[in-house]
Amino acid sequence: MLFCIVQIYMNKEIISDSYSILFKQNGFDKLSNHLKNENYSKIFIHVDNNTKQYCLDVFLNKIQIENYELIESCNGEENKNIESCLKLWKIISDKQGDRNSLIINLGGGVVSDMGGFIASTYKRGISYINIPTTLLSMVDASVGGKTGIDFGTLKNQIGTFYDPKMVVIDNEFLNTLEKNEISSGYAEIFKHSLIYDLPTYNLLISNDTPFYDLKTIYNSIITKNKIVLIDKKEQKERKSLNYGHTLGHAIESYFLNSENKLLHGEAVSIGIVLASFLSYKLFNFSIDHVNSIKKHINCIYKKIEISQSQIGSIIDLLIHDKKNSHGKINFILLKEIAEPVYDIQVKKELIKESFKYYLS
Ligand SMILES: NC(=O)c1ccc[n+]([C@@H]2O[C@H](COP(=O)([O-])OP(=O)(O)OC[C@H]3O[C@@H](n4cnc5c(N)ncnc54)[C@H](O)[C@@H]3O)[C@@H](O)[C@H]2O)c1
Repeated sequence: MLFCIVQIYMNKEIISDSYSILFKQNGFDKLSNHLKNENYSKIFIHVDNNTKQYCLDVFLNKIQIENYELIESCNGEENKNIESCLKLWKIISDKQGDRNSLIINLGGGVVSDMGGFIASTYKRGISYINIPTTLLSMVDASVGGKTGIDFGTLKNQIGTFYDPKMVVIDNEFLNTLEKNEISSGYAEIFKHSLIYDLPTYNLLISNDTPFYDLKTIYNSIITKNKIVLIDKKEQKERKSLNYGHTLGHAIESYFLNSENKLLHGEAVSIGIVLASFLSYKLFNFSIDHVNSIKKHINCIYKKIEISQSQIGSIIDLLIHDKKNSHGKINFILLKEIAEPVYDIQVKKELIKESFKYYLS
């Protein structure tokens, strides 16, 4: 049965704007053909220290590649910055990367965001391919053409929209991923189900652990891709992908340099509970749903204690969120499961009430 499901999804191909998202060995075979046919002048494989250790040999065993140069960045969000880019641009330049070069990003969202950004700017844009190795990057970061780096403590402030040539998903890479990183990526799968996929939501909510088989990963990518195809530049519908992220980002930024540092998905999971409560208050979203969502999140993620003064500081940070404009804080909320509404302004007092609900 499991073998059959893997076979079905292995041969699937999701078409995005100008590229395909492929799965497992079928995807790697197509990648090998692509490398043979495109005659790239230089191929750079971009890894971080962890994906070099855990994923590089696995990847090289799955593809045919004659020559490549390895470029390595340091792992972690704190290295998704211009200093790391300067080092990588220099290596690529020293190794005579030209306009016909290719970067293959083998890693999580930090590697693909930064590698995509480097590709989009080097010599006014060279090709890149994403091979995501974390759950989060499989269902979210590697798809949709957003590239970027952080600026000081502000996340993803500098970046481009620039599509990869191809994305290949293989959940075998997840075997070496830390459990908390799996949970972090799961928050995006859960979010995708909440905003657009009721059947997957019903499946996920009945579990008390992260559920992420290949079919669920596939469905999650379908959801993200569908929204990106409707509204690539995030003028309208794509905003719904930020469900739980308005407060989630602020919570993540607030705890960034503390001993309570949270992974992206851990912060987003709190943001999802808060946004669901606000949806109940402002759009009559069922309180039963809100309670089930909170219970589900609390089964998977450690509950975080947040004091009144911390809540005040988190609300102050909201102003820096990219989704806010003209000094107003914009939320994405739900009328129903799979019925998002965006550009909703919420009063400070109600935001405080949502924290009270999360903490109760
Ligand atoms: N571009 C987008 O649309 C988009 C969407 C969502 C998130 N993002 C970005 O993605 C980033 C988060 O991505 P992430 O959660 O993948 O984090 P990450 O890239 O930092 O990876 C998490 C950790 O896991 C390690 N790792 C990666 N693959 C591994 C493997 N297979 N085995 C063992 N260790 C492995 C990494 O070295 C790192 O330490 C954030 O910077 C976020 O802004 C971008």
